[in-house]
Amino acid sequence: MTKKILLATLIALLLCACSHNKQGLSFNPNNGTQEELTMPDGQVIKYTAYEHLYYVKHIEDTAYQYLNVYVPEGASSSTPILLRTYIGGYMAAKARKPQAGDATGRALKEGYVVVIPGSRGRNSMQDGTYNGRAPKALLDLKAAIRFLRLFDREMPGNAERIVIDGTSAGGAFAALIGATGNHPAYEEMLKAMGAAKKADDVFAAVCFCPITDLEHADMAYEWLYNGTSSRQRSAQLLPISNQLKEQFPNYINSLNLKDWNGNPVTSDNYLDLLRKELIRSAQTAKNAGADISDTLGFSFNQETMGGMPPLNGGKKQSKPMMRPIAPQQGEYIIGLDIQRYLNYVAGTQPLKTAPAFDTKGVLNQPASAENEVFGGSDGTSVNFTVFSAYNNGIDLPKEVVDNVYLMNPMNFIGTVEPSKGKSKKESKHKVAPFWYIRHGARDRDTGFPIPLNLALKLHNSGYNVNFLFAWNRPHSGDYALDELFNWLGGIM
Ligand code: DHB
Repeated sequence: MTKKILLATLIALLLCACSHNKQGLSFNPNNGTQEELTMPDGQVIKYTAYEHLYYVKHIEDTAYQYLNVYVPEGASSSTPILLRTYIGGYMAAKARKPQAGDATGRALKEGYVVVIPGSRGRNSMQDGTYNGRAPKALLDLKAAIRFLRLFDREMPGNAERIVIDGTSAGGAFAALIGATGNHPAYEEMLKAMGAAKKADDVFAAVCFCPITDLEHADMAYEWLYNGTSSRQRSAQLLPISNQLKEQFPNYINSLNLKDWNGNPVTSDNYLDLLRKELIRSAQTAKNAGADISDTLGFSFNQETMGGMPPLNGGKKQSKPMMRPIAPQQGEYIIGLDIQRYLNYVAGTQPLKTAPAFDTKGVLNQPASAENEVFGGSDGTSVNFTVFSAYNNGIDLPKEVVDNVYLMNPMNFIGTVEPSKGKSKKESKHKVAPFWYIRHGARDRDTGFPIPLNLALKLHNSGYNVNFLFAWNRPHSGDYALDELFNWLGGIM
């Protein structure tokens, strides 16, 4: 009997020794459960699930501040990790199970380790306190990445090959994670949460329709849609639209962007650039067999041409790609009546109001989701742009200005040259080297300039960017997964 007890104690001790505890956080590789996922084609994917792994020492919200890890058969310490955030609408997101129909199921099928972190958001609340206002969701995602690095040796998957994937507000967070890796601006807050003392940069960011650059999104939206019949018909919104539209040229010029070929992008040629990008979108779809209706504003060549216009996937191209077979008449899109196209987009789904994002109080309109993002822990919502605050006769509090800064990836790109930091502190900051950015060609949730500026700024700063307005896509993500995983395979 005593022998049995001794043996049981010994076994228990051995098992215990397998639970790894570091910096007040723990991971036990023996705690996995065997599960499976049936894919749309009937294939059954088997994996080991490790769930409910709390990623901070000082947990403020037990419902969200943990992550789940899914390890497919055959994964090793060098397997890349797809980290999928299900953040939408800037709300709190649960750590879910992988889904057969999105990038998580596909990633398991491709052999990737899948990590799904929970994170707080504008609506998360405990004991009467809103605990997820900006930049808390970003801090949670950073803490999750640090946790993966802390247990990189004990956990299958390579924490140096993390790909973060998100859609919409989730796409904005993917961009933030990609742009702000290890940045000292977040350090104190992460320390206070009890996040692991580890790096939080990632290898690649996959951003579907990122709702980002929030303090410039209103002006971009009105600059784009001001001429549509929707705006022109609205006696109420038009004056606001006109004022916001006028602010956009200064912003564009302040960015000092260059196009894919290195030519300066200014307020004078920005519409041309957009036209080219939308033509590239439609031409890419047309080359793949899509029918592009000529009612949308596109014009087509009438004669046979020998070469193809450069379809730039985000890389510099010295020579236009040539087609092996001579194209047929009308195969090339040579022009776009952009007003007609924008009217078409606005016809597929009514435009947002004006201002599209910082709505609160302007024309007595109610608060938007974004007004809540920057609001207080008491549940209040606030203005976050100078324009809307001015309209309401108030100044932006410093705290709001600081949080808006921390929530905009544009502020963290191009500030340090890749691999060449200025000071020791700055040099820790690491932007993800690889970026995949998609925004639907009929997505009106934010203006087309927002994802395009993000992509160009990254490209101009030396990072590898694959950008496209995805033809005929509305506001959505995790589509064209063959293309995405092909790209991922290439960069790994
Ligand atoms: C999302 C969509 C929006 O239009 C917006 O303003 C914020 C977030 C979303 O789908 O996540």
